Amino acid sequence: MPKVLLCPPDYFDVVDQKNPYMTGNSAVDHVKARKQWDTLCSVLQQSGCEIETIEPVAALEDMVFAANQVFVGAKDGCGKFVVPSHMVYASREREVPYFVDWFRQRDYQVIDLKLGSDYLEGHGDLLWHPDGSRIYAAYGFRSTRGGVEKFSAAMSKMGIPVVPLELVDPYCYHLDTCLCPLNNEAALIFPGAYSAQALTSLHKFWPRVHLLTADEAHRFMGNGIVAGGNYIAPYMTPQLEGILKGEGLTPVVIDTSEFEKAGGSCFCMKIALP
Ligand code: ARG
Repeated sequence: MPKVLLCPPDYFDVVDQKNPYMTGNSAVDHVKARKQWDTLCSVLQQSGCEIETIEPVAALEDMVFAANQVFVGAKDGCGKFVVPSHMVYASREREVPYFVDWFRQRDYQVIDLKLGSDYLEGHGDLLWHPDGSRIYAAYGFRSTRGGVEKFSAAMSKMGIPVVPLELVDPYCYHLDTCLCPLNNEAALIFPGAYSAQALTSLHKFWPRVHLLTADEAHRFMGNGIVAGGNYIAPYMTPQLEGILKGEGLTPVVIDTSEFEKAGGSCFCMKIALP
């Protein structure tokens, strides 16, 4: 049974502007946010996932976005490991030790990259190919090129290749908004989010590249979760539905409107455990 780790939204709020979605134009409805998070959990369970949670911490308003604080993996011969993030925003950086402790208590090896003035934001910018054969690593808005280089060097010691990708659209400030692996051959991408070189790399590694429109990407339709034959996403269009059907996936739409006010949706709210 696939396991995922989530953080309840007890202290979730929008208090500053870390990305272009965080306009503060409409206040977070906390009751609605809780209901939406509960629905995400039940849909994940109905899709065959086992849910673990980490204790939320007061004043860490973005901690609900559990995809960002560490990168997690497992490699034959090396076991399970995490790479702690260095988050650009101070309030988010304070989330990292809580996640590192959670994983340390469960015997994950902690690989500290000594990032210094470089940044790396976990699975916001670092995505596994589904078969574990490589990692896609984006930089440009949050993670830095230097951060991705240090990450690559550490992964290469374990024999895991890393594909660097430059991001260019501020509305796709994290890779998980513009790349969504559907299976080992197919991925959803939003081409407008990438440099020309990054686009070439993506086409090299995915036999079937399905293109999202700007509207689909900016409404987090590429920030979905693939689980148990479902594609869990906040909205659906006929074109995306067609792509999913062709890949044998069933769309499941859930409301994440409150979390979108903070610039995140389904994928951002969980970390898949190896
Ligand atoms: N407000 C959060 C931030 O800007 C949202 C993070 C969304 N997470 C993600 N994996 N894209 O840091």
